[in-house]
Amino acid sequence: MTSTYAVLSEGLEKRYGKVHALRGLDLAVAEGTVCGVLGPNGAGKTTAVRLLTTLLRPDAGSARVAGHDLTREAAAVRRRISVTGQDTSVDGDLTGRQNLLLFGRLHRVRGPAGRTAELLDRFGLAEAADRPASTYSGGMLRRLDLAASLIRRPEVLFLDEPTTGLDPVSRTLIWDAVRDLTAEGTTVLLTTQYLEEADQLADDIALVDRGRVAHTGSPAQLKALVGAHAEVVVTDPDALTKAAAVLDRLTGAQPSFDHERGAVGAVSKDPTLTLPLLVRTLDAAGVPLLDVSLRPPTLDDVFLRLTDTTAPATATTDDKERAA
Ligand SMILES: Nc1ncnc2c1ncn2[C@@H]1O[C@H](COP(=O)(O)OP(=O)(O)O)[C@@H](O)[C@H]1O
Ligand SMILES: [Mg+2]
Repeated sequence: MTSTYAVLSEGLEKRYGKVHALRGLDLAVAEGTVCGVLGPNGAGKTTAVRLLTTLLRPDAGSARVAGHDLTREAAAVRRRISVTGQDTSVDGDLTGRQNLLLFGRLHRVRGPAGRTAELLDRFGLAEAADRPASTYSGGMLRRLDLAASLIRRPEVLFLDEPTTGLDPVSRTLIWDAVRDLTAEGTTVLLTTQYLEEADQLADDIALVDRGRVAHTGSPAQLKALVGAHAEVVVTDPDALTKAAAVLDRLTGAQPSFDHERGAVGAVSKDPTLTLPLLVRTLDAAGVPLLDVSLRPPTLDDVFLRLTDTTAPATATTDDKERAA
């Protein structure tokens, strides 16, 4: 395996006046992989993308992006990367095709018409290609934006919350595009608030909390750390005991009871535990079921588990600063 990083940052810091948005961000993204920067609103994701794409200068820290120093070789970095932010950069008066041709000329792409047609097709915009972009839906605009950022085949692509607020069709097209890009060798750093999105796309996740990376790992590692919550609802006390025994065996965790609802639950850390397996095992044990569920960890679960345990018991100066 290669040990070269497309993005390697150390101690990146950024303040906006009194707001300490990034407090020492360390990121390592291996070439050709997708890194999901996962975090809630205000965690510092957009700030990180702005710094790493040279749109903002860091107050402290350093980074290498696409093999070049972020501050000393900003122009070289810029030539090798693309970024799609949350705000659209397309011109509504122009058609989708004209927008892409314009970006192609700006970036001196050879044969921009061919590349434009290819991208319109890839993002499901071929039919709407010759309509003004002002008539596009939000999802179509986001796809056109992404197409525009790909006109030049970047080494590293930065996507800032690419699917937030999008319809399922647009989301799927964007996910497919990200997968195609990595198959072609492009490195992708995407920010997201959705654990599911990171799970679908990312090789590695960096969990960002209050301007720092609180945890890194593969999606499976992250989910396994948090676990999924399995719950069984049954008809009678005898079934409850049996169901608890099954849960105990499958999860290795201490089951907890809700006698009023006739429910027993346990947190499974085993990522291979699936709902069908749970149902089959309960069925084989002769447990009459009212309801079974296996709820995957949500982003909230992940945050509670992975950030609170490392947080100091007393408020730090930084926390007081935030609260102020
Ligand atoms: N231009 C700005 N001026 C002042 N504060 C900002 C600015 N941009 C972001 N912030 C603050 O910096 C913090 C991180 O913001 P941001 O990077 O946008 O987070 P995210 O993208 O994860 O939601 C937040 O507290 C936000 O309010
Ligand atoms: Mg943001």
